[in-house]
Amino acid sequence: PVQVTKICCIGAGYVGGPTCAVIALKCPHIQVTIVDLSQPRIDAWNSEDFELPIYEPGLVDVVKGCRGRNLFFSTDVDKGIKEADLIFVSVNTPTKKSGVGAGYAADLNYVELATRQIASVAESSKIVVEKSTVPCRTAESMRTILEANSKPGCRFDILSNPEFLAEGTAISDLFTPDRVLIGSLQTQEGKDACQSLAEVYSNWVPRERILTVGLWSSELSKLAANAMLAQRISSVNALSAICEATGANIDEVAGAVGFDSRVGPKFLKASVGFGGSCFQKDILNLVYLSESLHLPEVAAYWRQVVDLNEYQKRRFGKRIVDTMFNTITGKRIAVLGFAFKADTGDTRESAAITLIRDFLSERARINVYDPKVPESQIWLDLEEARPDIKLDAIQKQVSICQSAMEACADAEAIVIATEWKEFKEIDWEAVYANMKKPAFVFDGRLLLDAAALTKIGFKVTTIGRPSHIV
Ligand code: NAD
Ligand code: UDX
Repeated sequence: PVQVTKICCIGAGYVGGPTCAVIALKCPHIQVTIVDLSQPRIDAWNSEDFELPIYEPGLVDVVKGCRGRNLFFSTDVDKGIKEADLIFVSVNTPTKKSGVGAGYAADLNYVELATRQIASVAESSKIVVEKSTVPCRTAESMRTILEANSKPGCRFDILSNPEFLAEGTAISDLFTPDRVLIGSLQTQEGKDACQSLAEVYSNWVPRERILTVGLWSSELSKLAANAMLAQRISSVNALSAICEATGANIDEVAGAVGFDSRVGPKFLKASVGFGGSCFQKDILNLVYLSESLHLPEVAAYWRQVVDLNEYQKRRFGKRIVDTMFNTITGKRIAVLGFAFKADTGDTRESAAITLIRDFLSERARINVYDPKVPESQIWLDLEEARPDIKLDAIQKQVSICQSAMEACADAEAIVIATEWKEFKEIDWEAVYANMKKPAFVFDGRLLLDAAALTKIGFKVTTIGRPSHIV
């Protein structure tokens, strides 16, 4: 097996950046260069005051620990490719917006462009690693492209090494992963390449946590893992609707179920719906794959996980309107949290966007506050959610606030959309004093102490519990 000394990562996003920064930190003997087409993104990674392009707890310390030593960020993609003996392809693979499979299939254009660039630029043999989440058998297309376009004497070994980090906990997930999965062809060359990459990870990951499997299993495992995680949330959210109608409490139900060691306690938190760049995209991709394989029942099974999630978001929005005497027209609603989960500034598929879109239709006035999402991102997301109205019309209805306190002032209702810890620590007595009465709180994250808030005077509605009963 080749001893890896130089790594290039194509794509300096939420995955490429943290993943390869951690490799650089843990492997001081390996030179790691992360490249991207986006100059502003690379400039931010290189910024002197460490204003990195993504917010992730602990990331700044990792970058401080090795940037300029053996970690480099650059827009010179060709140079990065030429120098490396191992290349991670970590570009985005969003859901296709048009053409065949629109709304379901993964858009593999970025993967293909990166692969073609590797083929045309490489002057020596490389190990090419799929880090992006891709449909099963993408490695085969990559190999065909590489072999058809390579220079004489260059060979390419392709590995699949999907990433399992979750945003908000990326650094600890990377420091102590549950597992590292590497898929390769079961040929001698494939196994050797797999060994080379396993050596890199074994600098800090125990050997027994590095799983080596076939290429197609590895690709499918990533889609399967996300589908099964999301399915747990949709299951618990489906039960939350039954709880609201019967008087059961979803936290108690999930706790009781999760105590069974076969189920386990994690990832059973009912919510306003899952968001993030992965779950919906990867499940739809799995649905598309199932349909292409003529497995309509399998496709329908997984599609229901996404359908239920859409239902959960709609249901929560409707419950808010119903509770506020069937109208929120002209009423001021404070939406606390805009990110898709706490500890990230990422807003992709955030439930807050769907909620605010619907509040806009109801002609409510909305105050938004999120501790990490930049104001410009909120406007971009709302503009995209409501292509039918102009941004200045949206801005007449929506204000972005600098604190939770400011957002709640004079509001008639508060909606918790993201489970930021700081929302637990708000001075709720002071908030109550500044609100119109009755003062409503809608907790979409099971974050707040409903009994304490009710004592103050709030009318509290929580996901997975009947209205106004604590
Ligand atoms: P991202 O959009 O944050 O980053 C992708 C980057 O790739 C962008 O900066 C883009 O400019 C760059 N890029 C695209 N084409 C390029 C090219 N040809 N050359 C150079 N740079 C190019 O995306 P992400 O969230 O990092 O996701 C990347 C992949 O990892 C996706 O397939 C995703 O499904 C997967 N993934 C994401 C997560 C997550 O939590 N975000 C977790 C696991 C897996
Ligand atoms: C997910 C997977 O967890 C990770 O392994 C994969 O690599 C990428 O996709 P991510 O989307 O970053 O990670 O965050 P995750 O913690 O999984 O949360 C996804 C969404 O589900 C969030 O909106 C979160 O709030 C929600 N969620 C999570 C719940 O509603 N309830 C839960 O119990 C857990």
